[in-house]
Amino acid sequence: MSTKRISIIQPDDWHLHVRDGSILKAVIPFSTRQMGRAIIMPNLIPPVADVQSALDYQQRIMSSISKQDSFQALMTLYLTDKTSIETVQQAHRAGIVAFKLYPQGATTNSESGVTDIFKLLPVLEEMQKLGILLLIHGEVTDSKVDIFDREKVFIDRVLIPIKKQIPELKIVFEHITTAEAVSFVETSDHYLAATVTPHHLLFNRNDMLVGGIKPHYYCLPIIKRELHRKALLKGVTGKHHHKFFAGTDSAPHMQHKKESVCGCAGVFNAPIALELYTEIFDKIDALDKLETFTSINGPKFYGLPVNNRQVTLVKKSYQVPDFYEINGEKIIPLLAGQEIAWQLIDDEETKF
Ligand code: NCD
Ligand code: ZN
Repeated sequence: MSTKRISIIQPDDWHLHVRDGSILKAVIPFSTRQMGRAIIMPNLIPPVADVQSALDYQQRIMSSISKQDSFQALMTLYLTDKTSIETVQQAHRAGIVAFKLYPQGATTNSESGVTDIFKLLPVLEEMQKLGILLLIHGEVTDSKVDIFDREKVFIDRVLIPIKKQIPELKIVFEHITTAEAVSFVETSDHYLAATVTPHHLLFNRNDMLVGGIKPHYYCLPIIKRELHRKALLKGVTGKHHHKFFAGTDSAPHMQHKKESVCGCAGVFNAPIALELYTEIFDKIDALDKLETFTSINGPKFYGLPVNNRQVTLVKKSYQVPDFYEINGEKIIPLLAGQEIAWQLIDDEETKF
């Protein structure tokens, strides 16, 4: 029997953390090996909140890449309470594609996040006018709301009112994790779409918590019950599948930060993201929907052309390394030491 293989338009990653400095240099090749473009998250410390910082960051990213012509870093600005209409205008002129809304304290490095989004309505109106997107980490931070309900509550408290007030603002509801989010996206107009990560499609909270806490599955929004994972799978392959696209939320942290008495949120999946998406779609007999999810829906929503290369994957098992070493420290990837079903065929020498 011949090996199963699939060729698709080269994907993009519509939500990626690459950090800075030596970590950036170590992790960026994993993404450029797979993706044509990536939306770069601005949650550095301090956050990337002005145009010059974003352009400098883009420069650092691009100078860390060997094949610069085959990858594009799409830059975002971190929305803060101080973001002005002028910043939005400058961002537009500089080719920044989106602003990122982190509710203050919602996740890793979100201390500078927005305290009350409704105070920023004029800024959002300017984004709507100029066609800049708003990318949303959709969780409330109200301490009274259970961590497993924070996304669902965010829809009612924030998303629905924002959509009412700024109806033509293009919004990406990022890394969605719940059945409620899937149905909200499916029933929304074409100004709203969502990204879905490989780990939220693959795992439920039992995978994270039964038999011992697994810190490398801990991310925000937190992984939910099986019924939500099933709803995500249905969403990305169902009738409204064109409203969902790939955003890995690959978020590298050093091992000691994850394996700690207060482990931080973030899953490092960049080395195997495309392979995992392929495995997920294959498992549910939906490989025919893979390319739209990874390579077509995203550019369409952003108003960009699809990539002009193809990539090929073969169904051949691959053992994920136990760790990657950076400056004598370790980063543990998702599924470290375990077998995955698919491999991307490299057309370059960069083999991990
Ligand atoms: C991200 C990080 O580490 O920067 N962590 C995560 O759990 N997803 C931040 C984020 O996107 O929420
Ligand atoms: Zn993220």
